[in-house]
Amino acid sequence: MMSARLSKLTDDFKRLYGAAPAVIVKGPGRVDLMGIHTDYNGGFVLPVAVNLDVIAAGRLRDDKTVRVYSQNFETMSEFSLDSIEHDNVNKWSNYVRGMLKFISEAGIDLRGADIALHGNVPIGSGMSSSAAIEMATGVLFQSLLHFEMSGPDMALIGQKAENKFVGVNTGIMDQFISRLGKKDNVLFIDCRTLDYDLFPLDTSRYKIVVCDTMKRRGLVDSEYDLRRSQCEEAARLFAQWVPNVTQLRDVSSADFQAYKDKLPEVVRMRAEHVIYENERVLESRNVLKNGDFEKFGRLMNASHDSARDLYEVSCAELDAMAEVCRAAPGALCNRMAGAGFGGCSVSLVEDKFVEQFTSVVNVEYERKTSLKPNLYVCTAEDGASII
Ligand code: GLA
Repeated sequence: MMSARLSKLTDDFKRLYGAAPAVIVKGPGRVDLMGIHTDYNGGFVLPVAVNLDVIAAGRLRDDKTVRVYSQNFETMSEFSLDSIEHDNVNKWSNYVRGMLKFISEAGIDLRGADIALHGNVPIGSGMSSSAAIEMATGVLFQSLLHFEMSGPDMALIGQKAENKFVGVNTGIMDQFISRLGKKDNVLFIDCRTLDYDLFPLDTSRYKIVVCDTMKRRGLVDSEYDLRRSQCEEAARLFAQWVPNVTQLRDVSSADFQAYKDKLPEVVRMRAEHVIYENERVLESRNVLKNGDFEKFGRLMNASHDSARDLYEVSCAELDAMAEVCRAAPGALCNRMAGAGFGGCSVSLVEDKFVEQFTSVVNVEYERKTSLKPNLYVCTAEDGASII
């Protein structure tokens, strides 16, 4: 399937630009196995980069013009590196524009390029098609121009593009995993220090099945910002009682228990989720390193339940998916992924039951919601790189 995509991309590139691309790269989407709404609290996450990605073909030009064609949208967007503005029509191109704006502001001398893109990360599903296009763009230009930039630095530029150019106030997880993921590995990220640890994920017994509810996320930006500010308020309050608190990352569950009654109800719920979720991520990392998938499955279920009940980022479709998936043959667990509010969830499913799991979930989920779900059996893949 990848080779068919590559040859179609190369054909379109030649047709549009009259020559073959100099390089083709990919930027993967991701799924977080643990750690929901922890990244912007300076906390911990455990994502994998997946086998759904954006592929980008490119060739340098002799001027400062960038022409970028999207096969998905069948449109071209063109701009000059000398003044990178928003494209309000071809909004997909803003991820490319934002990346190049901030790579250039980081002092890299960019040249124009002709580019063609194709993505198969479902858009709006919570698998981060945006980080995929950002990291594909960064690595494409790095491969064409051979400049030095560490993986974490490129992820930070991606986050800046997202926050300051596209205008969505996300954390660092998506870009970081899309850039630094490794085949058959899980990535542990300390989202404050940006220290990270890749370790093998043995998927011989359990497969990662990503379940798209097909409910497109609504209100996500405003609710996301609201959650962020509630967490900031919680951190400000804890700072009065516990030394050296700047983010919820700094508050332990023991601190939480000692002071929780002083917090306003909603703020207490948000803080409780984040504080215990961070502890669940740390525990998950140990549990997974020991290959204890059963324990990990229980932690994943607890993560979903906490995100639903305390952080209130679920919706009827995600809850229906969790119920159906958890009861389906071979399933260990199910939890929502990404920001919540719709989009995808993720299950671990015993290898020999994957087909049965998929057919039961397809039928049962549609029966409950009248929506046809999309299920993807995902593998952990390398982060953005040349292919
Ligand atoms: C979105 C954001 C991430 C993270 C998750 C929630 O995917 O892009 O930075 O905050 O939500 O864990």
